[in-house]
Amino acid sequence: MVRAALVGLRGFGAVHLAEIDRLAGLGKLELVGCADTVPPPPAAADVLGRLGSAVYDRYDDLLDATRPDLVVVATPPHLHAEMAASALRAGSHVLLEKPPVVDVAEMRVLEDLVSQTGLACQVGFQSLGSGACRRLRELRGAGAFGSGLRVGATGHWQRDSAYWACSAWAGRDSLEGRAVHDGALTNPFAHAVMSCLAVLGWEALDRFEEVAVERYRANPIEVDDTSVLRVRQGGAEMVVAVTLCAETTSEPACTVRGARGSARWVYTGDEVAIELDGSGPVVERYSRVTLLEEMADLLARPAGTPPGGLELSCPLARTRGFVRLVEAVTAAPVREIARSRTVVTSARDGTTTTVVTGVDALVEAAASQGALLGELGL
Ligand SMILES: NC(=O)c1ccc[n+]([C@@H]2O[C@H](COP(=O)([O-])OP(=O)(O)OC[C@H]3O[C@@H](n4cnc5c(N)ncnc54)[C@H](O)[C@@H]3O)[C@@H](O)[C@H]2O)c1
Repeated sequence: MVRAALVGLRGFGAVHLAEIDRLAGLGKLELVGCADTVPPPPAAADVLGRLGSAVYDRYDDLLDATRPDLVVVATPPHLHAEMAASALRAGSHVLLEKPPVVDVAEMRVLEDLVSQTGLACQVGFQSLGSGACRRLRELRGAGAFGSGLRVGATGHWQRDSAYWACSAWAGRDSLEGRAVHDGALTNPFAHAVMSCLAVLGWEALDRFEEVAVERYRANPIEVDDTSVLRVRQGGAEMVVAVTLCAETTSEPACTVRGARGSARWVYTGDEVAIELDGSGPVVERYSRVTLLEEMADLLARPAGTPPGGLELSCPLARTRGFVRLVEAVTAAPVREIARSRTVVTSARDGTTTTVVTGVDALVEAAASQGALLGELGL
């Protein structure tokens, strides 16, 4: 039985707690403790009581007292590196939420610790656990899409003023002197960037031939809410264009295009629609493993057993290219979108939502044409 611990109970920590509860029910792991600086909300307290988990205010007290096999870190990005490093030094495997770290220097520290300790560190990019991602990667690797390969992702979400006010780190570039980088490309739509990298097979690259970034904001935040990232490498192109000021919201999607056809994957799900060599779209359905179950299964093998097909979908090293791009993105200035281009609506409870006029079409055009938003008139 894998002895697991969870750091961070609110926000996405609740999703991890539900998964821990499910896996505990399957007898795959035991929750030995949690840590959070604030008391657990009532729903979490019920689950923790039922699972018999201890709760600590400080994560290093949790590590000292419980010495878990596996620690899930679901705290804000600026705390990831130090928490993951402490867990690895304490002898625990780690499931670390995305974005794994805020820069390449932090990445190097964690990669060194992983190689020194031989422990596993998996990053919470759950779209990489989808069979749809593997299928697109295989098709791309086999050259099925032909020449002129462009992998694009788009994201259209709306985030209101309550979202930006919900935590001290939301919309911040730094907090108490530490980098947070909560921008649209580096956090809310980090999965879009990572999914494209995985399809292209660029995820572990240390450098890219050509990177162009434009960051804009319509909300009163430190970071970007509307952005585009274009990377060119080996004759192929990746474009991620996203907005948190959408006119209409939709599920983010990753699209692969080439001379011989295209494929579209809504990366929060497991279906791909593929059109190759003039055929109509064929929809293929896949399943996905949860990253925590994958780790629990891997760790449950008797010592010395070969992996036997069990592999992590997103080991830390697979996010090296992502972290390199985080540095490129965060180095770009954030430009304000003209007030004349935004519409702000107020709800009864006083929350406001900012929408950028025409942004949905701009984001789609950027990803399909490989253009930057400024080139399209933003
Ligand atoms: N994989 C995904 O799809 C996904 C989705 C949402 C968020 N996330 C990631 O999860 C992480 C957390 O995001 P969130 O939205 O849940 O944040 P949040 O601020 O809502 O919750 C963070 C939790 O960590 C706790 N915390 C803060 N400092 C702590 C400390 N020093 N010790 C112990 N606990 C501490 C907070 O009290 C809170 O309970 C981020 O990295 C975010 O990007 C991932």
